[in-house]
Amino acid sequence: MAKYKVAWLPGDGVGNDVMDCARRVLDHLEFDAEYLHGDIGWEFWKTEGDALPQRTVEMMKETDCALFGAITSKPKEEADRELLPELRNKGFVYFSPIVRMRQLFNLHTNLRPCKAYPGNPLNLKDNIDIVIFRENTEGMYGGVEFHPLPAEVFEVLARNHPKMKKFEAAGLENIALSTRIMTRQGCRNIVTKAFEYAEKFGKKTVTVVDKPNVLRETGGLMVRTAREVAAQFPGIELWETNIDAQCMWLVKNPEKYEILVAENMFGDILSDLAAQLVGGLGFACSANLGDDYGVFEPTHGSAPKYEGLYKVNPTAMLLTTRMMLEWLGEGEMASKLEKAVASVIAEKRVRTYDMGGSNTSLELTDAVIAKLN
Ligand code: IPM
Ligand code: MG
Repeated sequence: MAKYKVAWLPGDGVGNDVMDCARRVLDHLEFDAEYLHGDIGWEFWKTEGDALPQRTVEMMKETDCALFGAITSKPKEEADRELLPELRNKGFVYFSPIVRMRQLFNLHTNLRPCKAYPGNPLNLKDNIDIVIFRENTEGMYGGVEFHPLPAEVFEVLARNHPKMKKFEAAGLENIALSTRIMTRQGCRNIVTKAFEYAEKFGKKTVTVVDKPNVLRETGGLMVRTAREVAAQFPGIELWETNIDAQCMWLVKNPEKYEILVAENMFGDILSDLAAQLVGGLGFACSANLGDDYGVFEPTHGSAPKYEGLYKVNPTAMLLTTRMMLEWLGEGEMASKLEKAVASVIAEKRVRTYDMGGSNTSLELTDAVIAKLN
């Protein structure tokens, strides 16, 4: 029997291309796993009204972790239009599978390292090495939203908050409401994870990013909780910043920041920005971690126009694979893989189109494999 069971979820578009790359590397490392293929993605939305069918969820429960490629997601109207005619108007609602997996498996911690590997022509600057901790199940992504606003909800809010009154004139059917629900536990967990990581890797600072000057209650809770956690880590400084200013500073002085911690939506925004500092989505790896399950995914989308062309940069996927190996306890394989990726980038010989080259995803992967020997 294999040592690990891995749910294999290529998803849509170039998800398949980059997962092939991951598999080549894993096989070469002689990673001892059984891979269980899972149906997931746009095709299953169109034909079953569910982009993450229950059978896939059940299969995942039998595995140690999941490796996930990419998924196509579209706004509501378009999603409804593409549903099979016999499934339309039956109450099927498209939900992003990755967001659902985060909720279903309580993958509370989204870890997104953004490192400028020397030799990458797309680095904004050298010496950038930022790790983002994004809370992954709460906030705006908790999914408590309304449109139109039910009268009952309006009344309760109006009774409890004087500022609600001014919206009455708009008419309930013209009001959309999304909520940002944050818990002390959720804040404490993500900040603690960030500090533990800082301690483990000898980092000096953790920066908590929110907007407590405006979002007084949610942002306030985040920052207050961060201070409480920070008090338990006397060797590490807590920096507090606002999301807007932090975006500016990341472009200006990215090398100053070591660890950023944020709630879900702000973490989402920060992580795309930080990814672009070190080469863009072709380099952006991530891990969605719960207490005993992980879903590992590159943060790029499915880029349907490149599907099957093996054109996109597989580095994000290979670095994601590294994160999976590390999390599973295969530290040696993980660091071998990272060193091999870094040395291919440093050599500047094999480059995909985003780096100004003309090599395919597979050629880049093979160059990495050659370095593993
Ligand atoms: C990400 C993505 C997802 C998110 C989308 C695809 C739902 O942007 O992983 O950052 O918003 O979390
Ligand atoms: Mg995102």
